[in-house]
Amino acid sequence: MSSFLESASLSEARVYEKHMEKFIAQESRPCFHLSPRVGWMNDPNGFSYYKGQYHLFYQYNPYATVWAPMHWGHAVSDDLLTWKHLPAALAPDAPYDDKEGCFSGSAIEMPDGRHLLMYTGVSANGHHTDGTVKTKQTQCIALGDGVDYVKLDCNPVIDASSLPKGSSSIDFRDPKIWREDDGTYRAVIASRDANGSGQIVMYKSDDAIKWEFVSVLARNNGRWGYMWECPDLFELDGYDVLLLSPQDMLPEGHEFYSGNGTLCLIGHVDKETGELIEQSATNIDHGIDFYATQTLLTPDGRRVMVAWMQNWDSIAGAAPSMRWFGQMTVPRELSVREGRLYQWPVRELEAHRGQKVLHKDVRLGGDPVVLDGVKGRVVDLLVDVRPTDDDYPYQEFVIWFARDDKFHCSLRYRPATGRLVMSRIHAGSRRAFVHHRKCDVDGAPTHLSLRLVMDRHSVEVFVNEGRLTLTMTIPTDLSADMISFFSRGFVTLDVEKYDLS
Ligand code: FRU
Repeated sequence: MSSFLESASLSEARVYEKHMEKFIAQESRPCFHLSPRVGWMNDPNGFSYYKGQYHLFYQYNPYATVWAPMHWGHAVSDDLLTWKHLPAALAPDAPYDDKEGCFSGSAIEMPDGRHLLMYTGVSANGHHTDGTVKTKQTQCIALGDGVDYVKLDCNPVIDASSLPKGSSSIDFRDPKIWREDDGTYRAVIASRDANGSGQIVMYKSDDAIKWEFVSVLARNNGRWGYMWECPDLFELDGYDVLLLSPQDMLPEGHEFYSGNGTLCLIGHVDKETGELIEQSATNIDHGIDFYATQTLLTPDGRRVMVAWMQNWDSIAGAAPSMRWFGQMTVPRELSVREGRLYQWPVRELEAHRGQKVLHKDVRLGGDPVVLDGVKGRVVDLLVDVRPTDDDYPYQEFVIWFARDDKFHCSLRYRPATGRLVMSRIHAGSRRAFVHHRKCDVDGAPTHLSLRLVMDRHSVEVFVNEGRLTLTMTIPTDLSADMISFFSRGFVTLDVEKYDLS
């Protein structure tokens, strides 16, 4: 392996981001969600714990708030919430491997103490008949010390020739690597089969450099979209969990929506065949802005997930004048209960809470109500909604937030159908993309617990201990900070609120 020598493109990116970040006001950024140092961010990459810190890399174009040949941006944190930007880690500078982009991938700590990044290199592979560049995707490795990374001379370490016959060499990306207890390595990678449908393939290696094809772990067979992106496989609470991000989905009831979505397959991997025997398939998040999940295992054994808090179909919201665009979700602790994925903000968030405001047993019915001390745009808000023993039980419950006289977002629940609707239709966007989403709360309970984590221009809603989540960005000016409650019929509420810092 050569020693670290900053290429012209990496050096240019590092000088540029250091200079430009000074022009970004802290107040324009989220407080505790990672946003790009400057320019464009998409998928989380290389989410790992290394040398006593959490590292989170991301798909990055420092030069403008649009997607372009991808770099890897880099940040570190002690608590998953307070992030410090480090210099860009990768630039598309390897002529034969990744000149068209360093696409998504993952990271692990090696036994010799080095940090290994496994990513997809995109390179030119001739031309299409219309003259545009044809690309190919291969898997590459860079080793480093937590700041500077050297790409291996033997890259790529996996190319499409090892895939099952007919698989695509154009769509073969997003390796997620891990180390087994016996010291060997595995990676799951997204690919397309001979029919163009998504498949997740598994590889193994003794040294993380020489890889061997193991199996097709999961096949889409046209069920959910076409290509599947960003796979992640891990054991959790006695199950094998495969997280994916399918492209080009068709809607299915209120579980899946059209466009780019997310999918959680829970089951067991057959040790003989290397195939996932699926037991359930659900959406990961029922909101609007959520894609490309990635997880890590914390030193104390928690499986924690982040995702890009955006959606490929909503990126028209990025104005060219902006200095940054894209942010990550709050890191979420995962668990599997009753065969279903649960998500909850990492417990570290509680240390960021300010003084508690508590309203217990508030009887609500008829007029909208504002509660003393309950407002803000950087808040942790817990709301427990239950029916009263009144002869006019509630038929609808609404929380309006990020609200002023003109704009608002809302969450609306009807116990008769179990339908929960998140909306930013009246939040001030002038763009015609998706602004509301419906989902069904299992069993249509009359008792509902909601947790809203707001961080300036976003809200993440955790329903019934995180059995369902809904995430969206909010375009509204920060002065719209009112929160109010309404019910048709009578309910009793407990409202607990903390400002977050
Ligand atoms: C998902 C994705 C990945 C790819 C990356 C490119 O959002 O399309 O599949 O590696 O973004 O930026």
